[in-house]
Amino acid sequence: MKVTLSIQRSDPERGGEARLENYDVEVKRTDRVLDALMYLTRNVDGTLGYRRSCAHGVCGSDAMRINGAERLACKTLFKDVVDRSGGTVTLEPLRHLPVQKDLMVDQSPFFEKFRSVKPYFVPKAEPTGKEFVQSQEERALFDEATKCINCAACYSACPILDKNPKFIGPAAIVQAARFVNDSRDKGLDERIDILDQPDGVWPCESHFECTRVCPRDIKITKLINLTKRQIKKARAADGRETAEGK
Ligand code: SF4
Ligand code: FES
Repeated sequence: MKVTLSIQRSDPERGGEARLENYDVEVKRTDRVLDALMYLTRNVDGTLGYRRSCAHGVCGSDAMRINGAERLACKTLFKDVVDRSGGTVTLEPLRHLPVQKDLMVDQSPFFEKFRSVKPYFVPKAEPTGKEFVQSQEERALFDEATKCINCAACYSACPILDKNPKFIGPAAIVQAARFVNDSRDKGLDERIDILDQPDGVWPCESHFECTRVCPRDIKITKLINLTKRQIKKARAADGRETAEGK
């Protein structure tokens, strides 16, 4: 079938307004959007900018807006975004991150917030030469959060970042939750002062847009609300107020 890829083109280094450019491509219904992009750069227009690496939904580098919704180009089949007779598929870069070129965004602000929550193991106890044994139940508490591939789809879809660009964002809270709920880690003790800030967890209003777009089906809003509850409990135990509403 024939589809028209309507791709947002821009090159901020060279200036000029962003514009939509149309490319007609012959595709199979089971082809991925990424297949068509690779065809275009190899055969039609080598200047088209987009990012990809694994092409199998693992690295998170080809997240973009496809017909207005954040998705991975390598996991989106044409049959999921156009009807049997074909049609137009609009491709735009993620929101809330500066565009580098066409569909490529500068992920630095996203990763800066991600790093701020200490997304690494901070052991509770000194190593003894033995394993830190975990029960299946303990592992289940943070299993979901380990699935994140840092694609920034949630960051783009989050309506809070429209009005508050300083909000730490859903993915950083998911990363924090991964370690906060790990019985071997110092957890919230190590991260509460980062999360309990006016721009930490509190701006989230549970719009569920992050949960809707996450290609790993992580229940992000649930994890954010769980983290808020854990912070409230920890602050109450210390006789302190949280930064909620400040
Ligand atoms: S939480 Fe989901 S949408 Fe957000 S960065 Fe991780 S994988 Fe992507
Ligand atoms: S290219 Fe790696 S997730 Fe799509």
